[in-house]
Amino acid sequence: MSRLVYVLNGPNLNLLGKRQPHIYGHETLADVEAECRKVADELRLDIQFHQSNREYEIIDWVHEAREVAGGIAINPAAFTHTSVAILDALNTFEGPVIEIHISNVHKREAFRHHSFVSTRADGVIAGFGTQGYTLALRRLARLIDEKTS
Ligand code: DQA
Repeated sequence: MSRLVYVLNGPNLNLLGKRQPHIYGHETLADVEAECRKVADELRLDIQFHQSNREYEIIDWVHEAREVAGGIAINPAAFTHTSVAILDALNTFEGPVIEIHISNVHKREAFRHHSFVSTRADGVIAGFGTQGYTLALRRLARLIDEKTS
Protein backbone atom coordinates (compact mmCIF):
# COMPACT_ATOMS: atom_id res chain seq x y z
CA MET A 1 0.00 0.00 0.00
CA SER A 2 1.24 3.47 -0.91
CA ARG A 3 2.85 5.51 1.91
CA LEU A 4 1.78 8.71 0.18
CA VAL A 5 -0.85 10.63 2.16
CA TYR A 6 -2.88 13.59 0.92
CA VAL A 7 -3.47 16.33 3.51
CA LEU A 8 -6.34 18.46 2.21
CA ASN A 9 -7.61 21.75 3.58
CA GLY A 10 -10.81 23.56 2.74
CA PRO A 11 -11.91 27.19 2.56
CA ASN A 12 -10.46 29.98 4.69
CA LEU A 13 -7.72 27.78 6.11
CA ASN A 14 -5.24 29.82 4.04
CA LEU A 15 -5.91 32.52 6.66
CA LEU A 16 -4.95 30.28 9.57
CA GLY A 17 -3.04 32.31 12.18
CA LYS A 18 -4.84 35.52 11.18
CA ARG A 19 -8.40 34.21 11.20
CA GLN A 20 -10.20 34.14 14.58
CA PRO A 21 -7.01 33.18 16.47
CA HIS A 22 -9.01 32.73 19.69
CA ILE A 23 -10.66 29.77 17.94
CA TYR A 24 -8.01 28.50 15.52
CA GLY A 25 -4.77 29.61 17.19
CA HIS A 26 -1.77 31.59 15.95
CA GLU A 27 -0.04 28.99 13.81
CA THR A 28 -0.22 29.52 10.06
CA LEU A 29 -1.02 26.82 7.52
CA ALA A 30 2.67 26.93 6.49
CA ASP A 31 3.58 26.11 10.12
CA VAL A 32 1.10 23.21 10.04
CA GLU A 33 2.58 21.94 6.77
CA ALA A 34 6.12 22.13 8.19
CA GLU A 35 5.09 20.17 11.29
CA CYS A 36 3.30 17.59 9.11
CA ARG A 37 6.44 17.17 6.97
CA LYS A 38 8.57 16.63 10.09
CA VAL A 39 6.23 13.97 11.49
CA ALA A 40 5.73 12.39 8.06
CA ASP A 41 9.52 11.88 7.79
CA GLU A 42 9.53 10.20 11.18
CA LEU A 43 6.64 7.93 10.08
CA ARG A 44 8.21 7.26 6.65
CA LEU A 45 5.20 8.83 4.92
CA ASP A 46 5.28 11.10 1.88
CA ILE A 47 2.75 13.88 1.87
CA GLN A 48 0.95 16.06 -0.63
CA PHE A 49 -0.32 19.11 1.28
CA HIS A 50 -3.00 21.28 -0.36
CA GLN A 51 -5.49 24.02 0.49
CA SER A 52 -8.27 25.48 -1.62
CA ASN A 53 -11.24 27.76 -1.27
CA ARG A 54 -12.85 25.96 -4.23
CA GLU A 55 -14.88 22.81 -3.70
CA TYR A 56 -14.01 21.34 -7.10
CA GLU A 57 -10.26 21.52 -6.44
CA ILE A 58 -10.67 19.45 -3.28
CA ILE A 59 -12.75 16.93 -5.25
CA ASP A 60 -10.05 16.79 -7.95
CA TRP A 61 -7.33 16.13 -5.33
CA VAL A 62 -9.41 13.28 -3.88
CA HIS A 63 -9.68 11.83 -7.40
CA GLU A 64 -5.91 12.18 -7.80
CA ALA A 65 -5.39 10.50 -4.41
CA ARG A 66 -7.48 7.53 -5.65
CA GLU A 67 -4.72 6.73 -8.12
CA VAL A 68 -1.65 7.22 -5.95
CA ALA A 69 -2.31 7.59 -2.21
CA GLY A 70 -2.61 5.21 0.73
CA GLY A 71 -4.62 7.61 2.91
CA ILE A 72 -6.26 11.02 3.18
CA ALA A 73 -6.31 13.47 6.09
CA ILE A 74 -8.84 16.19 5.40
CA ASN A 75 -9.99 19.35 7.12
CA PRO A 76 -12.90 20.22 4.82
CA ALA A 77 -13.55 23.41 6.88
CA ALA A 78 -17.02 24.83 6.10
CA PHE A 79 -17.52 22.24 3.31
CA THR A 80 -17.74 19.68 6.14
CA HIS A 81 -21.25 20.86 6.85
CA THR A 82 -22.46 21.39 3.28
CA SER A 83 -20.70 19.22 0.73
CA VAL A 84 -22.31 16.02 -0.50
CA ALA A 85 -19.91 16.32 -3.47
CA ILE A 86 -16.80 16.00 -1.28
CA LEU A 87 -18.44 13.10 0.57
CA ASP A 88 -19.18 11.38 -2.76
CA ALA A 89 -15.57 11.87 -3.85
CA LEU A 90 -14.24 10.44 -0.57
CA ASN A 91 -16.56 7.46 -1.01
CA THR A 92 -14.64 6.61 -4.21
CA PHE A 93 -11.36 6.43 -2.24
CA GLU A 94 -10.48 2.99 -0.95
CA GLY A 95 -7.89 3.77 1.74
CA PRO A 96 -8.31 5.24 5.22
CA VAL A 97 -9.70 8.76 5.64
CA ILE A 98 -9.27 10.86 8.78
CA GLU A 99 -11.34 14.03 9.24
CA ILE A 100 -9.70 16.87 11.15
CA HIS A 101 -11.14 19.95 12.82
CA ILE A 102 -8.87 22.33 14.68
CA SER A 103 -11.71 23.51 16.91
CA ASN A 104 -14.13 21.33 18.82
CA VAL A 105 -17.04 21.71 16.41
CA HIS A 106 -19.40 20.06 18.91
CA LYS A 107 -18.86 22.90 21.38
CA ARG A 108 -19.79 25.47 18.74
CA GLU A 109 -22.91 26.48 16.77
CA ALA A 110 -25.45 23.72 16.04
CA PHE A 111 -24.85 23.96 12.27
CA ARG A 112 -21.28 22.74 12.85
CA HIS A 113 -22.44 19.58 14.60
CA HIS A 114 -23.37 17.80 11.41
CA SER A 115 -20.66 16.56 9.07
CA PHE A 116 -21.30 14.88 5.73
CA VAL A 117 -17.65 13.76 5.71
CA SER A 118 -17.99 11.93 9.05
CA THR A 119 -20.28 9.37 7.39
CA ARG A 120 -17.20 8.26 5.41
CA ALA A 121 -14.29 9.06 7.74
CA ASP A 122 -12.56 6.19 9.55
CA GLY A 123 -11.74 8.59 12.38
CA VAL A 124 -12.52 12.17 13.38
CA ILE A 125 -10.21 14.50 15.32
CA ALA A 126 -11.73 17.71 16.67
CA GLY A 127 -10.63 20.22 19.26
CA PHE A 128 -6.94 19.25 19.41
CA GLY A 129 -5.88 22.50 17.74
CA THR A 130 -3.41 22.16 14.87
CA GLN A 131 -1.90 19.15 16.67
CA GLY A 132 -4.83 17.24 15.14
CA TYR A 133 -2.97 17.14 11.82
CA THR A 134 0.01 15.18 13.12
CA LEU A 135 -2.27 12.94 15.18
CA ALA A 136 -4.14 12.16 11.95
CA LEU A 137 -0.84 11.31 10.23
CA ARG A 138 0.11 8.96 13.08
CA ARG A 139 -3.23 7.17 12.78
CA LEU A 140 -2.95 6.91 8.98
CA ALA A 141 0.59 5.48 9.28
CA ARG A 142 -0.73 2.86 11.70
CA LEU A 143 -3.64 1.93 9.43
CA ILE A 144 -1.36 1.74 6.37
CA ASP A 145 1.14 -0.41 8.32
CA GLU A 146 -1.66 -2.75 9.43
CA LYS A 147 -2.89 -3.17 5.86
CA THR A 148 0.61 -3.85 4.54
CA SER A 149 1.64 -6.36 7.20
C1 DQA B 1 -13.07 23.82 11.05
C2 DQA B 1 -14.47 23.91 11.66
C3 DQA B 1 -15.50 24.32 10.63
O1 DQA B 1 -16.79 24.39 11.20
C4 DQA B 1 -15.15 25.68 10.07
O2 DQA B 1 -16.08 26.04 9.04
C5 DQA B 1 -13.76 25.79 9.60
C6 DQA B 1 -12.69 25.11 10.33
C7 DQA B 1 -11.99 23.54 12.09
O3 DQA B 1 -10.87 23.18 11.69
O4 DQA B 1 -12.22 23.68 13.30
O5 DQA B 1 -13.47 26.53 8.66
O6 DQA B 1 -13.06 22.75 10.12
